[in-house]
Amino acid sequence: MKINGQRLIDDLKYLREITATPGQGVTRFSYTEEDGRAREYLARIANEYGFSMETDSVGNIRVCPPESKGSLIIGSHIDTVRNGGWLDGIYGVMSGMEVLRTFADNGVHTDAAVMVYAEEEGSVFGSTMTGSKFLTGKYTADDLTALTDDSGVTLKEHLAECGYLTEDASGSSLPLAVNPADIECALELHIEQGPVMDAEGLQIGIVDTVFGMHVLEVTYSGLGNHAGASPMKGRRDSMSAFAEAVLAIEKVALEAGCGVVATIGKVSVSPGGSNVIPDSVRFTVDIRSNDDGHTSDAVERIRKTVCEIADGRNVECAVRDVADSSAIPFSRKVIEGMAALAEEQGIIYKVMDSGAVHDTAMLAPFTDAGMMFVPSINGRSHVPEEDTDEDDLVRGAQFLMDYILRSQSSH
Ligand code: GLV
Ligand code: MN
Ligand code: MN
Repeated sequence: MKINGQRLIDDLKYLREITATPGQGVTRFSYTEEDGRAREYLARIANEYGFSMETDSVGNIRVCPPESKGSLIIGSHIDTVRNGGWLDGIYGVMSGMEVLRTFADNGVHTDAAVMVYAEEEGSVFGSTMTGSKFLTGKYTADDLTALTDDSGVTLKEHLAECGYLTEDASGSSLPLAVNPADIECALELHIEQGPVMDAEGLQIGIVDTVFGMHVLEVTYSGLGNHAGASPMKGRRDSMSAFAEAVLAIEKVALEAGCGVVATIGKVSVSPGGSNVIPDSVRFTVDIRSNDDGHTSDAVERIRKTVCEIADGRNVECAVRDVADSSAIPFSRKVIEGMAALAEEQGIIYKVMDSGAVHDTAMLAPFTDAGMMFVPSINGRSHVPEEDTDEDDLVRGAQFLMDYILRSQSSH
């Protein structure tokens, strides 16, 4: 049985056009009009095939064929980073939809359902894997108000506006799309987002461990003042402190070795005038590795370093922990099953770690969970240039379907 590769590619190309930044990559933030249009597209397919489609109180979606128990979930996300690529997340979702359609077209019965996890990127609320953190109890009703966008609007307010979180659904136990205890297997197909597979000529990556990550938000508050009238000596310049911190953080990560990576990707300068010494600079630090000990050592060194830099420049320093998740290994059973299938099919594969985080890792403590990758051309992702050969995209979805058939028949 073959998936309809052209249908999958056509879906992805159609969805690529749903962006808030035409011509500058895909920007499809959670709970926005673009997000709504992608959801409508899924609803159209679900309707056409008679699949049920439910959206829960935090915006997670579950699409399930009528005869399926939904105990095997194929999931990923449809939100993106700002000016991101056309495949991150939505490739896994549309491949899942393609698998469900192929089963339906061929009269094959399975217990598969598709999950769309809401706000995976954290583009709006700063914390990644938001929907799956709610599903797995890492986030609770209290976080609906703790999580806010850059203008201070709470997640709860966004959800209410979309109509996902109704008055009677906003109590302490939120209505959610699935109970992890009812899930027997969680799978996710994704682009690699790094250079390994492209460089090594691999066709399928089987994910061993998803990196843990910790995000800090640092605010330096100095003395705002006139750019011309304030002598260099005696300034309390939060921008200079920031500049020093950027290189010091890079040094911490380089010296940590062990695959530790640290990234400063978001900066806001207040008030942001060319002739004003900033009164404050706020920035994020994203720190990751596949070993929680190494990650937390780097986090603590960075925390100490940014405070020391502030002290040396007589500026105030506030550090807030925005998000954290552990390194999570996937099920050996799933890894071995995928490797056996790849061997049987003569696929060039490798078992490898994922530096990107993924919702399916959140499910791993509760069920047999696993992920597979297809190559990213030149290892580019989270940028408009993100791309994968169509043959690889189709191969990945076919491999996902074949793995599901294999695992369901060995039940
Ligand atoms: C999600 O894409 C992440 O790894 O930040
Ligand atoms: Mn992703
Ligand atoms: Mn991403």
